[in-house]
Amino acid sequence: MNITIIGTGYVGLVSGTCFAETGITVTCVDVDQKKIDNLNQGIIPIYEPGLTPMVQKNMEKGRLFFSTSLKDSIAEADAVFIAVGTPPDEDGSADLQYVLGVAREIGKHSDHYMVIVTKSTVPIGTAEKVKAAIQDELDKRKQDIPFDVASNPEFLKEGAAIDDFLKPDRVVIGTESERAQKVMKKLYKPFLMNNHPVIFMDIPSAEMTKYAANSMLATKISFMNDIANLCEIVGADVNNVRRGIGSDTRIGHKFIYPGTGYGGSCFPKDVQALVKTSEQNGHPLEILKSVELVNNRQKSVLYRKMMTHFNGNLKGKKIAIWGLSFKPNTDDMREAPALVIIDKLLKEGAEVVAYDPVAMEECHHKIGDSIGYAKDQYEALIDADALVVVTEWNEFKVPNFRVMEKLLKNKLIFDGRNIYDIEELIENEYTYYSIGRKAISAVHEAASK
Ligand code: UDX
Repeated sequence: MNITIIGTGYVGLVSGTCFAETGITVTCVDVDQKKIDNLNQGIIPIYEPGLTPMVQKNMEKGRLFFSTSLKDSIAEADAVFIAVGTPPDEDGSADLQYVLGVAREIGKHSDHYMVIVTKSTVPIGTAEKVKAAIQDELDKRKQDIPFDVASNPEFLKEGAAIDDFLKPDRVVIGTESERAQKVMKKLYKPFLMNNHPVIFMDIPSAEMTKYAANSMLATKISFMNDIANLCEIVGADVNNVRRGIGSDTRIGHKFIYPGTGYGGSCFPKDVQALVKTSEQNGHPLEILKSVELVNNRQKSVLYRKMMTHFNGNLKGKKIAIWGLSFKPNTDDMREAPALVIIDKLLKEGAEVVAYDPVAMEECHHKIGDSIGYAKDQYEALIDADALVVVTEWNEFKVPNFRVMEKLLKNKLIFDGRNIYDIEELIENEYTYYSIGRKAISAVHEAASK
């Protein structure tokens, strides 16, 4: 089998590499010459655990290639995956110009039967548009070359993408012909053989499944965040509530951890796009509008706690931030809560010093020297008025509180991910704010240096 993946962003690169890992010959295509040159030297543009050695291995095995030529790369392809970006338009709907541009290119150069698969998250009805664009180009060439379209949304989590691809909970494939289904079955044969569910369905349902899955997960998170906020008011502890409800297998323990709001490249964009689609179709999904609203509010929850603690005056305060990426094990800062918190702190006249195990370069790229960057987590604390934990990297979970108190000006922590035990903080005499749990106020804070 021979496939082409168009777009070497996160989805394209991980999918292409993992397909190569199953023995398929894969060419990944991108218009960015520099990126392709780098990839050809085994230099990977994204941070994803395990990806670099897998790319290098499959290149050495002669199964994974990188090219800027769409025309050459599809010459022998059984299937072409479109994995280019679909950034949100000003109004929140997905911008399809890149997807449809690729479809036209395929139509211009196709000379044999292929299945054209949308892998990017695309609005319902996009496969139809892809089909029309390809057909239009074929018509212009007066060529009668058969092709099929299919939808095969990805469900990769950053930081765990390789496992998610190779050991998926399910693979969803939308097709409209037996011929296309046969090609897709062959491609996913290793998954079928390993009993990973491969669910075939019609194309609109496959397109909808991706949005519905991400929106459901985002809903779980926003629901828990709002429950957490209410827990604080009524004196409940959201950790107990989470364990209590998660034990019901119908609810489950996953994705009910409250925090500083969801970020990343998928949830915010997909929720927004589905809201838009629902409105355009005269059936506004009110529940999702609330999910979005709650999430935007949640990104400021730590800031509000800080304002209250410091009596509305953060001017001149030095705030240490642990964690910048939108979640651990990635350097991705798209829609990261840290950006919202930093922006608000700087506007209030606070000084910010941050540390993140991998996302500092990315942060610098985004906001430059408006904040300080510490060389390790403890350096960030030197003379800080407070520590704010925004991302739950493992290395922040068991810190040395005794060392910390020597560096911090106040023994004061705002924990946006509930990574510390309240008892532990009481024992160490810290003032501690978290999400959905009672705040503890140490008398010692004022007395510390
Ligand atoms: C998500 C989906 O999980 C994946 O299936 C889809 O293909 C792409 O979008 P990703 O954005 O990489 O993946 O991250 P994920 O691990 O799902 O986390 C998303 C956000 O939700 C993060 O900001 C995370 O901190 C937050 N989150 C997650 C919570 O706040 N609480 C939770 O319980 C789980």
